[in-house]
Amino acid sequence: MVFEIDRDRINDVAALDYLCFKEPWDDAEWTRVLENPFARIKGIDDGNGSLAAFCCYVCIFDECEIWKICVREDFRRQGLAGRLLEDMIKEVSAEGPANIYLEVRAGNVAAVRFYEKAGFSRIGRRNGYYGDGEDAFVYILKTGLKQV
Ligand SMILES: CC(C)(COP(=O)(O)OP(=O)(O)OC[C@H]1O[C@@H](n2cnc3c(N)ncnc32)[C@H](O)[C@@H]1OP(=O)(O)O)[C@@H](O)C(=O)NCCC(=O)NCCS
Repeated sequence: MVFEIDRDRINDVAALDYLCFKEPWDDAEWTRVLENPFARIKGIDDGNGSLAAFCCYVCIFDECEIWKICVREDFRRQGLAGRLLEDMIKEVSAEGPANIYLEVRAGNVAAVRFYEKAGFSRIGRRNGYYGDGEDAFVYILKTGLKQV
């Protein structure tokens, strides 16, 4: 089940972030996320009270951005990231159409495949976007649009 993460479990999020990303956020960054009224963190437990996956995103009216989505290594390819994304899309679409953006490392094959399978379209590339010089791909998903 997907649940909302607050201050009580932010240390679990930071620990998983550290395991999953080359440039994890420090405590100050996570505190800024918690204090941002437009940001949300959602998680999935591993069944034993530990965090298996989380997704962190921000929505300002109908413009959303996924900041991070990550799954513990031993829980990958079991659909957890898909469930978190589905939950987010359902939530942001509830009030009407929305644009969901994200940036991903150009060499992150798993994430690129994940987002493309989920229907995101690549709309750009930012050269040398990351601290180590790697490029970012920019993706968008338009949700809730009616067919005309
Ligand atoms: C990218 C990531 C979030 C995917 O999580 P996941 O729970 O394993 O993804 P899912 O099980 O929901 O996968 C859905 C689909 O995405 C694609 N996919 C996921 N991981 C993949 C991989 N390693 N290689 C190729 N395709 C992959 C597949 O199409 C998969 O469907 P399938 O398993 O039926 O083939 C996970 O690998 C991760 O945490 N990576 C490290 C953090 C990161 O890079 N986050 C993304 C940038 S913010």
